[in-house]
Amino acid sequence: MKPIYIIGFMGAGKSSVGSLLATLNHLQFIDTDIFLEARFRKSIRDMFVEVGEERFRQREHSVIEELSGMNDTVIATGGGLPCFHNNMALMNETGKTVYLEASDEALFDRLCLCKRTRPAICNLSEEEIREFVHATMLKRRPVYEQAQYRISAEQLMNRDDEVRLAQEIAESLNL
Ligand code: S3P
Repeated sequence: MKPIYIIGFMGAGKSSVGSLLATLNHLQFIDTDIFLEARFRKSIRDMFVEVGEERFRQREHSVIEELSGMNDTVIATGGGLPCFHNNMALMNETGKTVYLEASDEALFDRLCLCKRTRPAICNLSEEEIREFVHATMLKRRPVYEQAQYRISAEQLMNRDDEVRLAQEIAESLNL
């Protein structure tokens, strides 16, 4: 089976739902952020600071090209990955794409809880994060919406919600 790509904004639940989806269906799981960190032996945060976003996006592109050949694998992508270097088209051509969809408000609430680890927002105030989510989603939504499947991740508070979403994805994809 070709790869299943889980895409969406930071805080949408890609890694937690994606890894559950993989476990429940006996598939491998890869998170592109963790893959990049292991390959370059640097945290995403340090990579952004040391080589800059443009270089980071090139690295993401070569990683997703490489991973697109994997079978029986769920791949959770970084939030920005689909929006650079034609990666969305590449993923649609090489596997199944699932967009975890959530409103700006829900994303804002979740991001405020875990902003420290995220280079794009770690130095922003709450008001700036709200503006960042809104402005970035305006640009990214049209790309995310090119996914073949859309699953609402609006309600994602606990493990039960994650399991429910993973099951919903499995049913939609006929796994
Ligand atoms: C980014 C999202 C992050 C990570 C990097 C940039 C983005 O991934 O790739 O910090 O531009 O939205 P997550 O969506 O897994 O947090």
